[in-house]
Amino acid sequence: MFEKIAVIGAGTMGHGIAEIVALKGYVVFMCDVSEEILQGAIKKIEWSLRKMVEKGKLSHDDLTSALNRIKTTTNLAEAVKDSELIIEAVPENLELKKEIFSKLDKMTCAETILGTNTSSLPISEIASVTSKPDKVVGIHFFNPPVLMPLVEIVCGDKTSSQTVDRVLTFVKTLDKQAIVCKKDVPGFVVNRILEALIQEAAWIVYRGEASILEVDSAVKYRAKLPMGLFELSDYVGIDVLYSAGKAIQDRDKGVIISPLFEECYKNGWYGKKSGKGFYTYTGDFWEKPKIPPELADKVRLEEIFAPAVNAAAWLLRNKVVEKEELDKAVMLGLNFPEGILQMADKWGIDVIVQVLRSKQSRYGEYYRPDPLLEEMVANNRLG
Ligand SMILES: NC(=O)c1ccc[n+]([C@@H]2O[C@H](COP(=O)([O-])OP(=O)(O)OC[C@H]3O[C@@H](n4cnc5c(N)ncnc54)[C@H](O)[C@@H]3O)[C@@H](O)[C@H]2O)c1
Repeated sequence: MFEKIAVIGAGTMGHGIAEIVALKGYVVFMCDVSEEILQGAIKKIEWSLRKMVEKGKLSHDDLTSALNRIKTTTNLAEAVKDSELIIEAVPENLELKKEIFSKLDKMTCAETILGTNTSSLPISEIASVTSKPDKVVGIHFFNPPVLMPLVEIVCGDKTSSQTVDRVLTFVKTLDKQAIVCKKDVPGFVVNRILEALIQEAAWIVYRGEASILEVDSAVKYRAKLPMGLFELSDYVGIDVLYSAGKAIQDRDKGVIISPLFEECYKNGWYGKKSGKGFYTYTGDFWEKPKIPPELADKVRLEEIFAPAVNAAAWLLRNKVVEKEELDKAVMLGLNFPEGILQMADKWGIDVIVQVLRSKQSRYGEYYRPDPLLEEMVANNRLG
């Protein structure tokens, strides 16, 4: 379908996106601000492809062909010339993204799709600086792009259905699964649910209702998530999660950041990368916090997950995402063992609503149960 693809920004995400795109047979031009960064990115891609060869997942010839399909340049115009799809992955800064999209608009032909990998910025605002907002779309890969099976396709106010269809077809050719976030809401689908969940864990600890280890033990051993929520925050980076949460909070109060999270962020306790976050680290790459299984029943899962279920209900009621896609999003994007709606059905919608009401009466309107949940309880659709 696409002959040539350009990836703008060769950092954590950009180099991974270029790698998977080249592996699946596309010619890809990777652009960054310096030769040094580009060469570093190529080294990382080569290292990752060699790992695949060692594991028998890729032949040596396929490694060489994939590498040959990746071209590098610091010249944006050269990168995007004749590209039919652009995927921008520069830092999460709205002004920088707008500056780049304004240039891309002038450098590309009418049919070229302009994709952004932003995790939290409004697609419509990025599109507003172009003359073809119908061709601007969020193409949100997860980290690391080579391994994570999900891509969230995010529509801006003016993104056309043809653009979404072309990107859906493209994502399939990468052997990845896509969900469509049909409205440009803060946090899109996956981060909106993740932030509601992580911030609630941090509020529970801040309010003295449970300890970090108790929450992480419950989440890991009873909800069977791959990591505790504080362990996950340290792993992803408290700075990254703070910025994504702040973007949602500032735009529509879809989440409220806990003072506990704020404190870590302000002190530079970003997690594994800084040696301290919610846990402390000695620098060993494989180190994991020790979370005792015997603490797993000290806090109810419904207390931790209710705001995330509320966020899911909000997404459904506002027709942001289809029901089946929502559960797929958390399973493939967050490695949940089952969907958030499936979990809510197991706990009981009436129980979730009771927990939310109780929190609402103590802590305020953020916890008001979504009308969809109230309606389900009224109609005896309890799970
Ligand atoms: N890191 C993650 O886990 C993650 C996950 C999903 C989405 N995202 C999103 O992906 C985007 C990139 O994030 P990242 O973590 O890869 O950032 P990063 O800082 O690792 O990489 C950004 C790269 O863009 C380059 N760059 C800066 N200005 C540029 C310009 N004018 N032209 C070309 N290149 C330029 C930088 O030199 C850097 O190499 C952000 O929008 C982020 O929100 C990140």
